[in-house]
Amino acid sequence: MNKAYEPIVHEYDIVVVGAGGAGLRATMGLAATGLTTACITKVFPTRSHTVAAQGGMSAALGNMGEDNWRWHMYDTIKGSDWLGDQDAIEYMCREAAASVIELEHFGVPFSRTDEGEIYQRPFGGMTTHYGEGTAQRTCAAADRTGHAILHTLYQQSLKHKAQFFIEYFAIDLLMDDDGTCRGVLAWDLSEGQLHLFKAHGVILATGGYGRSYFSCTSAHTCTGDGNGMVLRAGLPLQDMEFVQFHPTGVYGAGCLITEGVRGEGGFLTNSEGERFMERYAPNAKDLASRDVVSRSMTIEIREGRGVGANADHIHLNLQHLGSDVIHKRLPGIAETAKIFAGVDVTKEPIPVLPTVHYNMGGIPTNYHGEVVTLKESDPDSVVPGLYAIGEAACVSVHGANRLGSNSLLDLIVFGRAVANRCAETMQRNKKHPAVQQHKLDKLLGDFDAIRHADGSSSTASIRADMQKVMQEDAAVFRTAETLQQGVQKIHKVAASFADVKVSDRSMVWNSDLAETLELRNLLGNAVTTMVAADNRKESRGAHAQEDFPDRDDANWMKHTLIWLENDQTRIDYRPVHMYTLTDDVEVVPPKKRVY
Ligand code: FUM
Repeated sequence: MNKAYEPIVHEYDIVVVGAGGAGLRATMGLAATGLTTACITKVFPTRSHTVAAQGGMSAALGNMGEDNWRWHMYDTIKGSDWLGDQDAIEYMCREAAASVIELEHFGVPFSRTDEGEIYQRPFGGMTTHYGEGTAQRTCAAADRTGHAILHTLYQQSLKHKAQFFIEYFAIDLLMDDDGTCRGVLAWDLSEGQLHLFKAHGVILATGGYGRSYFSCTSAHTCTGDGNGMVLRAGLPLQDMEFVQFHPTGVYGAGCLITEGVRGEGGFLTNSEGERFMERYAPNAKDLASRDVVSRSMTIEIREGRGVGANADHIHLNLQHLGSDVIHKRLPGIAETAKIFAGVDVTKEPIPVLPTVHYNMGGIPTNYHGEVVTLKESDPDSVVPGLYAIGEAACVSVHGANRLGSNSLLDLIVFGRAVANRCAETMQRNKKHPAVQQHKLDKLLGDFDAIRHADGSSSTASIRADMQKVMQEDAAVFRTAETLQQGVQKIHKVAASFADVKVSDRSMVWNSDLAETLELRNLLGNAVTTMVAADNRKESRGAHAQEDFPDRDDANWMKHTLIWLENDQTRIDYRPVHMYTLTDDVEVVPPKKRVY
């Protein structure tokens, strides 16, 4: 045992890391089935980043016009640019309605139609009849849907007696020599103790890594901690090259302005006052999928039709919607626009810019949330004891580009799926094997080394360097040149972590140490993103490679797997699931993706 630390040991059937929408849905579901369940979270649960989700959660309820989960499945496959696994997409879309109704019964205060049904708004890429009409599929609680869901799920989790460990930072996974996950090491930020949570299952619900970029809609807490832990456990991440830019982040501040604005009838204009999306996506216009809208905005700016003194952003107009609609359906963004852009949305357009918003890539799982091992000899085998859900995971239901409002859906459907899987397969209160001491000692040693790091670069300066490289070289449009430079630069930044200085050695409320641990995680995400992006020689979904402008299904319809071992990356591939789960629906074959 490392003498400096004696972790307090806990034993649970299952430990969930993260208390956003996915983590809380899993926690609630697990606790409800009688599995002893702990949820470890570095922020208070209702402050998790899901609280910022605005526009809503997709499900083909058909409350506002005809709808069908098969159309939703088709849209999601097309949105994914045919990189999504079709069995998993089928699962998500057909489970969507039941998941929303369940949330309604748990107490989520959805907005209502005049008839008292759940209100649904149009969102990008969501159609009826396989691309013919516009679907109103996104179930909304005004523009604060994530907030409503998070509060409800936290209350439900408490009702089922889940145990919360709040403001605990999960440091690393405890993996046995045989590759079984046995628990997680965490640091209690307020009391300063280390804790070892022994568990038969660890569910990573740690969210995305938006903060590896300079400008993003993500909270400061979105540092890809689960992904970092997985890389250090010697496991791969999948499809990291696919980073979504949301078309409407507030110019300068990055805060999200929901796609729901365009769903309610808002539109984008350039410096000539032109609704330019009509040129790029004649049918869907402003409600084309996000990658298409973000690229169109970027082209407008590049060609000199941006707005503002530097012609470097775009206008989002909603003045014509009238204050009744704005105050009833979009109260939150009216406030955000006022605070962060100084704009009264009933009178003026909001200045916006494509802003990093979501990571399609992450920890590879099957549709039960089990982390897959990807052994060629047995592609269905899983890492014993390890699960991942939500934005941290790559199921893959979003493929190369996620449709707006499929994120809340993913959180809830797979949070529920993993709870059901564990309830079916796990024995309650099973005895825990002894800890492999050398494995724990390694984790404690690594933690201690970071705590006492005494180099000459501050955490903040390395983080700023990383964010600059990511922002410049892994942007909306990428070229072979920017990516090759990006790979060199990001490796150099990652290497500079060896020279980091942690100036505060205390264990209590030490934000310097916490941010350094977060930076270690961010760097793993950043390196694998840049290398995977450089490696993919085609354009698909959010990965727009200007030297390879077309999608290349013959060579690249495959998932990227990337490992990071001793600072070196290794890449392999796994096939896209071009099969469905049931005979209720047919595979959607690849075709040209136009909106
Ligand atoms: O625009 C939005 O409200 C974001 C939704 C999403 O990312 O799913």
